[in-house]
Amino acid sequence: MDQQEIFPPPKHFSEKAHIGSMEQCEALYKACAADPEKFWAEQARNLHWFSPWKQVLDWSNPPFARWFIGGKTNIAYNCIDRHLSSARRNKAAIIWEGENFEQRILTYQELYRRVAKFCNALKKLGLKTGDRSIIYMPMIPEAAIAMLACARLGITHSVVFGGFSAEALKARIQDLSASLVITADAGLRRGKEIPLKPNVDEALPECPTVKHQVVFRRLGSKVEMKAGRDHWWHELTDGVSEQCAAEPLDSEHPLYVLYTSGTTGKPKGVVHTTGGYLTQVLSTMKWVFDIKDEDIYWCTADVGWVTGHSYVVYGPLAAGATTLMYEGAPDCPKPDRFWRIIEKYRVSIFYTSPTAIRSFIRQGDDFPNAHDLSSLRLLGSVGEPINPAAWKWYHRVIGKEKLPIVDTWWQTETGCIMISPVPGATPAKPASATRPLPGAAPDILDENGNSIPVGKGYLVLTRPWPAMLRTLHGDPERFKQNYWSRFPGKYFTGDTATRDEDGYIWLLGRNDDVIKVSGHRLSSMEVESALVRHKDVAEAAVIGAPHEIKGEGIHAFVTLKAAAKESPALADELKEWVAKEIGSISRPEKILFVAGLPKTRSGKIMRRLLREVVSADKVVGDTSTLEDYNVILKLTQQGKEEDEILAEKK
Ligand code: WTA
Repeated sequence: MDQQEIFPPPKHFSEKAHIGSMEQCEALYKACAADPEKFWAEQARNLHWFSPWKQVLDWSNPPFARWFIGGKTNIAYNCIDRHLSSARRNKAAIIWEGENFEQRILTYQELYRRVAKFCNALKKLGLKTGDRSIIYMPMIPEAAIAMLACARLGITHSVVFGGFSAEALKARIQDLSASLVITADAGLRRGKEIPLKPNVDEALPECPTVKHQVVFRRLGSKVEMKAGRDHWWHELTDGVSEQCAAEPLDSEHPLYVLYTSGTTGKPKGVVHTTGGYLTQVLSTMKWVFDIKDEDIYWCTADVGWVTGHSYVVYGPLAAGATTLMYEGAPDCPKPDRFWRIIEKYRVSIFYTSPTAIRSFIRQGDDFPNAHDLSSLRLLGSVGEPINPAAWKWYHRVIGKEKLPIVDTWWQTETGCIMISPVPGATPAKPASATRPLPGAAPDILDENGNSIPVGKGYLVLTRPWPAMLRTLHGDPERFKQNYWSRFPGKYFTGDTATRDEDGYIWLLGRNDDVIKVSGHRLSSMEVESALVRHKDVAEAAVIGAPHEIKGEGIHAFVTLKAAAKESPALADELKEWVAKEIGSISRPEKILFVAGLPKTRSGKIMRRLLREVVSADKVVGDTSTLEDYNVILKLTQQGKEEDEILAEKK
């Protein structure tokens, strides 16, 4: 990477930005560093509090942090009600476009009405503060309405990505002991109906805690309704009051649990709470996106991921902004759909993933060039490392060499953006997330936990921050073990990063068994567990291998049971099997049948060696713990043969 290339913030942007110079930026960093609690107390005053906090931070029992102790607030109140007493009440809160070109625009006033009605519907079912719900919805306004209604009543929600299977949904419902599932009959993807309610129905027989299922009619698909348990959204909200007071909730009330992949087969339920979360999400919304009242802001993430929580729903609405939601695929009906949407709604801030950018590059410049993108003023990227070529294309073709790009690093666990340029101030270097924002105190450590001022190592965060995860749902031990034990007292991100002479941070990818496919977070073990549930599979080892568009693709090394025979048909069957077990985002790119897997003497699969086989076609590093070195040699040989066959085909 060329670390010398620097893109200063465009003058026209800095002149109008909330933070328009490095001096202003430094002042912010300094204020936070000098007295973080005072700094965050000031930021928290940007929210409405029903009663004030007594203490800013309690870090007396690390790693369990509490922020704004004793304070009472409500996230839905901050995202909606606050805006009703100003001209913002007539402003578009949500602009939605369906894949089939349907369009809906909800003003803040209308959003209030719909959220209040849905709250009253939930109350009718007996739901109350402290209950837990699962939201399994397509990208429609009702997904946001459901989230906001839960937040308003203090029902902790867990949004499950609509692309997850019944099996994956079931595991999440069970772990959360949810009493309510909110879903739709189906979603729309590339013109095809994606069933949702039928998946819930498949999961529920083994989820005894669920008492109610509320179903929004999106497409009018035929679904079965079980009397007493299943309710239509439109029937439940019919005739109910359009007023509903927001519950004053404790600052540490759990807002949501979001399941994300870790290094074991079981997803982790990351818990986010209320006051600290919204404070930092709102601050970053201003610092990173320079959000203004006149913006049309579009983050392309699905509400099923953390980006959809913090930067599609809660952040933009807390800022009183207009947030755009699009239901479908980026290439439907043609590869120019995103550019059409930007042109049609005059989008000014566009936030997407490197995978999306790489697929735009492949489709060619004609698609964006055919549209008027002159409304854009800021571009963003999130979810995986962006390669310099993709950054430069984004800058040149979409930004016409005039727009700043914010490459934002963060995680489900951090709750909000931690490392990112401030667009009116920070000079950008392509593919570097640049510098930590106030509140983020990163360090880069070697194996032994020594700080590396310049160079490559493990990325950690050294101080608690308001939007940090509080624990893992039902498993505080795993929370400690997973994040705080590798380097005691420090939060371990699982990422590898480099810091350069200017203090700029370059994210290089994960150093654990988390795989990032198209920016979606998957775990090796989850896919392996799915594979070994297949009748023919004896053992499986799964790794992420470099992929031109998706960043990483899943490669699965499989050993078969004695009675099974390897064949291309079986490989296809196994790919489908994984897609069915977890969801199609987990479908392996490649299945490799092997005679054995490399293991340590204690029986742990050495995925590191497999990664080396795939990416370098040779084994480097320490193999002294290998049980059988021959296994690796065989794999290396097999990889070579495959490549030769492929080369011949070309
Ligand atoms: C990766 C997504 C490089 C990283 C918000 C992190 C990134 C994981 C970037 C979290 C970026 C996220 N540059 N890598 N700008 N942003 N990542 O929980 O490996 O889905 O640990 O949260 O994505 O993924 P998650």
